[in-house]
Amino acid sequence: MKATIAVLPGDGIGAEIVPQAVHVLEAVAARFGHRFEFKTADVGGAAIDKTGRPLPDDTLRLAKESDAILLGAVGGPKWEGLDYSVRPERALLGLREQLGLYANLRPAKLYSMLADASTLKREVIEGLDILVVRELTGGIYFGKPKGIEKTSEGEKGVNTEVYTTPEIRRIAKVAFEAARKRRRKVTSVDKANVLESSELWRRVVIDVSQGYPDVELQHIYVDNCAMQLVRAPKQFDVLVTTNLFGDILSDEAAMLTGSIGMLPSASLGGTIGMYEPIHGSAPDIAGKDIANPIATIASTAMMLTYAFSLDKEATAVEQAILRVLEQGYRTKDIHAAGTRLVGTKEMGALILKELQHA
Ligand code: IPM
Ligand code: MG
Repeated sequence: MKATIAVLPGDGIGAEIVPQAVHVLEAVAARFGHRFEFKTADVGGAAIDKTGRPLPDDTLRLAKESDAILLGAVGGPKWEGLDYSVRPERALLGLREQLGLYANLRPAKLYSMLADASTLKREVIEGLDILVVRELTGGIYFGKPKGIEKTSEGEKGVNTEVYTTPEIRRIAKVAFEAARKRRRKVTSVDKANVLESSELWRRVVIDVSQGYPDVELQHIYVDNCAMQLVRAPKQFDVLVTTNLFGDILSDEAAMLTGSIGMLPSASLGGTIGMYEPIHGSAPDIAGKDIANPIATIASTAMMLTYAFSLDKEATAVEQAILRVLEQGYRTKDIHAAGTRLVGTKEMGALILKELQHA
């Protein structure tokens, strides 16, 4: 098959990890006889430096004209003083909004050989395999009114949590459909004991669940969920939740697997999906060749599955990652005694080699 992939490395370690993922996609194309055309553009701080805007029109156009988007990460201390409306993060939010990417899939799966890299006990996390389904274009990230205004006492900062029936319905469906391909259990995370938006969330999720009698539905308050994730995470299969709760809980879920540097994501819902690691731009380690490229490489596997229905190819990428880990190679974030420390480029090259020679 032929496809055009928009490559948006962004900031910080994005510039180091994304090329490794592109090499992997090139190897997939060569091995399985596909043609991927890569078109790179600036996004986030890198785009601000060149154009003054985090999501230039050219970048958005390129994204819209492609078949899939591979994104690194955006943001960094250099741009932190800027007004919210032009910060690097706006690029991500803009892409999500403009492309209608309301469903963010964040799988947290433990590679058993990394169990000791987790801060949790092996027995708590061994076999962990959960999927966070995060609503991505609504809630407090986008609700109005919003802003900072002057008051007689100083200033007032406002954000608003808004969810409508159709928004909840469509994300709930994504969760139930995903659960059908997994262990058939959905846990809906809300704060229905306090928030009206959560009360509606719960009601609509229950309504959608009527169409999925084969899937078990459970509700949990977000504070309890945060606690249960470190106490007994294996009780969960699919977690479905709002934009903000999902942002927080997916970082927590990622860390159960040892490193946030391992976890991929797919943002779906529109005609074009966006694939990116769940971690950020990590400016503290940028440019040092120590960042873990696995989350981004694993995101290409999600791209192959969701954008191109290339399941065999996706499995090949996942297997290559697995084999390199089995051989004991580790980047700094997952390094432990008795394993072999490698940098970003070498980790990428090792995975590439596995993919080419398998
Ligand atoms: C994420 C990130 C983003 C978010 C930021 C960078 C805007 O934390 O993708 O989880 O909050 O959604
Ligand atoms: Mg986040």
